[in-house]
Amino acid sequence: VALTPDGVKTLVRGEHEVRLQAGAGHESGFEDAAYGGAGAKIAPDANAAMRGADVVLKVQAPTPAEREALSGRAVWVSLLRPLDAPEDVKALAERGVTAFSLEMVPRITRAQSMDVLSSQATVAGYRAVLLAADRLPKMFPMLVTAAGTISPARVFVIGAGVAGLQAIATAKRLGAVVEAYDTRAAAAEQVESLGARFEQLENDAGDAEEAGGFAREQTEEFFAEQRQLMADTAANSDVVITTALVPGRAAPLLLDEAGVKGMAPGSIVIDLAAPNGGNCACTTPGQDTEVHGVTILGPL
Ligand code: NAI
Repeated sequence: VALTPDGVKTLVRGEHEVRLQAGAGHESGFEDAAYGGAGAKIAPDANAAMRGADVVLKVQAPTPAEREALSGRAVWVSLLRPLDAPEDVKALAERGVTAFSLEMVPRITRAQSMDVLSSQATVAGYRAVLLAADRLPKMFPMLVTAAGTISPARVFVIGAGVAGLQAIATAKRLGAVVEAYDTRAAAAEQVESLGARFEQLENDAGDAEEAGGFAREQTEEFFAEQRQLMADTAANSDVVITTALVPGRAAPLLLDEAGVKGMAPGSIVIDLAAPNGGNCACTTPGQDTEVHGVTILGPL
């Protein structure tokens, strides 16, 4: 939900009228009664909540019906994926709506508290490791027991941005041996500071970081070399977690079918780039698939 009851209190204290779509906070543990107690009016549905509103707050982009229901004077604040779905933003602009896309808030010191990408990527990286640990038919930590020694699980994280670094840290805490790869040179030091090994291409094309910290698009030749390194490392891994993204582009293909085939049966791939098409050729976004005995999860 885009606003908590505490947020409602602040707005009501400032003499604003706040209307909540009934049940909007339920999944997050905030019930209508808490919003009512904070001074919000409860509207039966989204349309009724939005009617005549000057400012609309939502988590995701408006549906076409919501867009139609907006008045031209309205201010809209949400995630909007403007680089992935430019036509939706254009439709908002054509209605005269003033829209704030939270993904586009610059990553500067003053705006840290508005960085919706980092907070959600942190959750995704953590959760990916838990999903993998649950699915892998093997434990993560090394165990030395009277009956013998169990070697630790090997986890390979592709893409060491916010989600990837959180995945590395979480997998390390569970006791796995972790390797990671990223095209940005700055990631090497961050990966190593978490106790993981950084994989590097022999003929690295140089630093792939642009201003703002995001990755730059690369050539197809570079990608082919990259896929070979990914396949070789994946072949020695129990779990591969992929998080590689380039803003406004389809996710780069980093683990092809041959790479999946090279992994031992029972291994797990968690493809966090699934919403942008996936980093693994065998990913079906939103579904669990089994290919060559390897289970591939593409959570959305
Ligand atoms: P992202 O979600 O856009 O991409 C994830 C990772 O995939 C990135 O590290 C990117 O370099 C990598 N990647 C892209 N193409 C790849 C390829 N072909 N092979 C391997 N890896 C590939 O990135 P995210 O998580 O938004 O972080 C990007 C950078 O921004 C990081 O350096 C992060 O530390 C920085 N950042 C800075 C913030 C701030 O200053 N407030 C806040 C959040 C992140």
